[in-house]
Amino acid sequence: MDFKNLVVEELSKVLPETITIEKITDLIEIPKSSDLGDYAFPTFILAKELHKAPNIIASELVEKIEKDSFEKVESKGAYINFFTDKSAYSNDILHIILTENMNYGNTQQGENRNVTIDMSSPNIAKPMSMGHLRSTVIGNSISKIITKLGYNPVKINHLGDWGTQFGKLIVAYKLWGSEEDVKKDPITNLLKYYVKFHEEAEEKPELDDQARAWFKRIEDGDQEALQLWKWFREESLKEFNRIYDRLGVTFDSYNGEAFYNDKMDDVVNELEDKGLLVESRGAEIVDLSDENLSPALIKKSDGATLYITRDLAAAIYRKKTYDFAKSLYVVGQEQTEHFKKLKTVLNLMGYDWSDDIEHIQFGLITTGGKKLSTRKGNVILLDEVLNDAESLALKQIEEKNPKLENKELVAKQVGVGAVVFHDLKNERRDSFDFDLQEVVRFEGETGPYVQYSNARALSILRKVDNEDYLSTDNLSINDSNAWDTIKLLGNFPDVLQRALREYEPSVIAKYSLRLAKSFNQYYAHSKILADDEQKNARLALVKSVSIVLTMSLALLGVNAPEEM
Ligand code: ARG
Repeated sequence: MDFKNLVVEELSKVLPETITIEKITDLIEIPKSSDLGDYAFPTFILAKELHKAPNIIASELVEKIEKDSFEKVESKGAYINFFTDKSAYSNDILHIILTENMNYGNTQQGENRNVTIDMSSPNIAKPMSMGHLRSTVIGNSISKIITKLGYNPVKINHLGDWGTQFGKLIVAYKLWGSEEDVKKDPITNLLKYYVKFHEEAEEKPELDDQARAWFKRIEDGDQEALQLWKWFREESLKEFNRIYDRLGVTFDSYNGEAFYNDKMDDVVNELEDKGLLVESRGAEIVDLSDENLSPALIKKSDGATLYITRDLAAAIYRKKTYDFAKSLYVVGQEQTEHFKKLKTVLNLMGYDWSDDIEHIQFGLITTGGKKLSTRKGNVILLDEVLNDAESLALKQIEEKNPKLENKELVAKQVGVGAVVFHDLKNERRDSFDFDLQEVVRFEGETGPYVQYSNARALSILRKVDNEDYLSTDNLSINDSNAWDTIKLLGNFPDVLQRALREYEPSVIAKYSLRLAKSFNQYYAHSKILADDEQKNARLALVKSVSIVLTMSLALLGVNAPEEM
């Protein structure tokens, strides 16, 4: 039983028929203060139709509403305030959560349709940046949220594994590289070659010609060139995979830019057939001035295709292969223009599914207020961040709980969880400054705090020698200290829906913080284990909190250690 539905139902019986159930559901607000009840209905929109002042409408409606299922129903100004029956509500919600357990909040609304999620997508032979980390963890969390709501996510790592930079890399490798070094530390060394290439090419422009020639050889399928490209790709991927393992992230496809190499001619031909391609200074472009966008550059004058050409091929391929309901691209906001162009070109090609493409953009991570830059040496190395976070977590555990078993494993879960949580608690469009000490604090708005609250709930349950609370009929709680926590538990399905609507993991992260905090306050103010007739109901509440916290963390891709 959902109490919001109850409010909607009772309201619909007394409101004019012109106001649909959906409309009522939309209008209902959650009051800021509990003095104003648990739900409130504003009557302003009725004023015109009923030719009365909203406060009069509110007081007249209150008279007509069936109040049996509520603690009370009152009018206050233009609002009708509903106070839920707390005992009945706690009984209902706790039964639901204990029965449904990890399925609480699940729906079938996705009808098992595919949603492609373009995520992570780092560039080969370059270090994975904090931006790629954001993309990875946001994409991963969205995949878990939509799974819970009945969609089938297809996680695609659209690797940056094609382009003229590979020609440069081959030239540099042949001049200054060694197989041994690449094997030992692929990304560092490949990056070194690449940087050296740029330094040297300033003096010796012939290096650029050689690079172009090598890339042409890759494109033409030349054995040696292709082999080297493949090898660089594999070595880089090995290193990326190490990071994905640490984060617990997997992919359904690693089809990156190179995969679309043989699918580009079709796109170019199609654009041509549809009369969209125009020549401009030797290059082929799609003019987008009608949409106030700069032209989409499809083919350079030397015949080379571009980033957007490959994205057009990828979008069409994904629609054909997965028949997606939605196609999401979790990519930094600096590529907003690119995705606008992508959608517009597909739309001009006549693909109405271009409306289902969504750029899930996110803000920058800075350090000390400065933008990160590989070239300026202002970098954060992901591996190091995870290492540091893990050892800080271990240090904290040594201080607080030195007897804990599996300390190392828990430290890993806490350290990595802290980094992931820190990223996801920020609204994704916001930029934020990265400060490691801040990230792994156990207190405050951090992942470890939520993990710790969950572990505390589980430790309470370990103190009781039976699980009778799982099968107790009456789970009514009338302790007002518990009310906030109970209400939050009941809101979880709504929270999930909002996270889906906005593709916003921070909605879940913020919710888990609120639930953890509310639970800790409850814990501080009540004797959960006292022997009275509500003991089992209180234990059921503790169990429910741990279910919902564990689930929330899982939706963020964060582990929930049982002890810490
Ligand atoms: N490799 C690109 C980068 O690092 C991101 C690719 C995003 N995905 C896409 N389909 N364009 O900037």
